[in-house]
Parts: sequence; structure tokens; C-alpha cells
Amino acid sequence: MAAEGVLLFGADGQLGHELQSELSVLGRLIPLTLADVDIADAKDLQAVIRHHAPRYIVNAAAYTAVDKAEQEPDLAQAINATAPGIMAAEAKSLGATMVHYSTDYVFNGQSAQPYKETDATDPLSVYGQSKRDGDIEVMAKAGAFFIFRSSWVVGAHGGNFLKTMLRLAQERDSLSVVADQHGVPTSARWMAQVTREALQHPQHADLSGLYHLSNAGRTTWHGYAQYVLTQAAQMGWQLKVKPEDVKAIGSADYPLPAPRPANSMLNTHLVQQNLGLTIPIWQTGVDEVLAALWATKV
Ligand SMILES: NC(=O)c1ccc[n+]([C@@H]2O[C@H](COP(=O)([O-])OP(=O)(O)OC[C@H]3O[C@@H](n4cnc5c(N)ncnc54)[C@H](OP(=O)(O)O)[C@@H]3O)[C@@H](O)[C@H]2O)c1
Repeated sequence: MAAEGVLLFGADGQLGHELQSELSVLGRLIPLTLADVDIADAKDLQAVIRHHAPRYIVNAAAYTAVDKAEQEPDLAQAINATAPGIMAAEAKSLGATMVHYSTDYVFNGQSAQPYKETDATDPLSVYGQSKRDGDIEVMAKAGAFFIFRSSWVVGAHGGNFLKTMLRLAQERDSLSVVADQHGVPTSARWMAQVTREALQHPQHADLSGLYHLSNAGRTTWHGYAQYVLTQAAQMGWQLKVKPEDVKAIGSADYPLPAPRPANSMLNTHLVQQNLGLTIPIWQTGVDEVLAALWATKV
């Protein structure tokens, strides 16, 4: 059977939403949400892939509730590891290319350097373990594939840190944000564009592999919050907390059920080299999201 079209899982998530706009140029796009198929149901998942027989399977679906995952390890594993493995095996038997997304949370964050694709994983949380296992499943079972490991994803659609900071700065009189975790906010829209470019690449099957994909630059959650509030105030948002008044705290002052890596920096040399990417600085994506949010606000 000649495979055609793009089967997109997680179509209504932060990244999935951006992928819907980008990937339709590759052929018929079939966007699927949890309401269409629960990917934790292996039989349903297999059936829907076989029914559509796509040329590309793009998996933006994931169990992303990092703290809740500590209480639901089996469900996190089913969604983040078993399901991508099934997609990968089905993609291979169809001759389809698979795209999957992973996370900096596969690392323990103890390195002083940005993490390379070849660095050993050592997840600190159930979420991180399940995503690491998903990477292993896809690498073992797919034919042609891309895994893009990213960090601190931000888009206009769905929930994220940027939106939380904007809301809290309007509601509260003070704000304390962790300043000892380092990473790079990464634009969901840009990730979707890179995904399209990767799949359109004439040698895309030969470029199969695991890639670290984040925007350029670096910051902390505290620096990120200050940047968001500075830009938002300039755009006209009425904020009760000024950027300079955001208090810097340590991770120990803000304990969460799932520990976070102190260093979430990813080395993106490989993706730059193989896909010929010039990587935009993180502030570009954040500015775009703020502009999109402002446009729908007024
Ligand atoms: N967000 C980040 O900061 C970040 C950082 C690094 C890597 N990533 C990775 O990037 C990818 C996309 O993340 P995102 O931020 O776009 O996540 P998201 O906004 O939470 O989207 C995930 C989507 O998956 C869907 N989903 C969850 N369980 C499902 C199931 N059993 N069957 C079918 N669909 C299901 C969700 O549907 P419902 O909303 O209806 O539950 C949601 O639409 C994920 O692989 C994530 O691990 C994210």
C-alpha cells in the first residue's frame, strides 16, 4: 500500500497546534486529539495508524504533567514510551517516517556543559524516565525517524510558564521565581517549522536520528520571567509586579514533587550541521508569543 499524508498525534497541544499549520504542505494532514484516539490504548493506536496508512507519523502527544506523573507512572509510561514504540514499529512497516519529541528532563542536570545527544541520560523524575524510554523505543523500532529533544517549550496555544507568569503578575502583588535552573525557552512555532524543513529535506531518511533542538542563548526561570514581564509591560499589559521586583529564589525554596534538572541546556551543534539550521535566539520566539497573546487580548 502506498503510504500518504501526515498523521499528527497531539494535534491540540502546544506544539501540535503549530504543527497543524506547518505540516499541511506535506500532503493530507490528519490531526488527531485525545478525543479521536487514546494513544495509551495500544489496539486503538495500531488500528488508527493502519487505517490511515500515512507517509509521516508525527507524535506531539505526550503525558506532560510532570508532577502528576509521579503519582501515575504506568500511565506516563504507556503514553510516553509504549505508544511511541508502537507508532515507530507501525511507521517502519508502512515505510513511513516518524517524528517524535523529547525533553531535557532525560538528563540529571549535573553537567556544567550543554548536553549532547551522546551524553548519558539519567532522568530525575517519572516523566523524564518515561520520555527517555520513549526515545529508546523509537530509536529501536523506527525506520526513518527524527527525535527532537527540546526544552522549556513556549507557544501561544496551551499552557506554559510564560502564560503563568503573565497571569500571576496581573493577579498577585509579588512573585518569586527559581533562579538556579538554567535553560532555553524554545518556540513551539519554530520547532514546527524545523520539523517541516526536516521532512522536506531531500535526504531526510539519511538524516534519521536523535537531535537536540532548542533556541539559542540561555537564561534561568527567573531571567525568563523578568524578560516576559519587561516586554509585556512595554506592550501595555497592566501588571502589579514590576520585572525588577520579581524575587530570585533557589529550587530548595520551591519544592515540587518531581525534581527538575539544574542544567537544561542542550548542545544543538548536530542539528545545525545536519539540517543547515541557523538557530534564532529565544527572545524572538517569546516576543512572537507575547504579540500573538496581545492580539487576541485586545
Ligand atoms: N512543554 C515543554 O516545556 C516541553 C519541553 C521539552 C519537551 N517537550 C515535549 O514536546 C512535546 C509536545 O509538548 P507540548 O508542550 O505541546 O505538550 P502539551 O501541550 O501538553 O500537548 C500534549 C498533547 O498530548 C495529548 N495527549 C495526552 N495524553 C494523550 C493520550 N493518551 N492520547 C492522545 N493524546 C494525548 C494532550 O491532550 P489533552 O490536553 O486533551 O490531555 C495534548 O493535546 C512532548 O513530547 C513533550 O514531552 C515539551
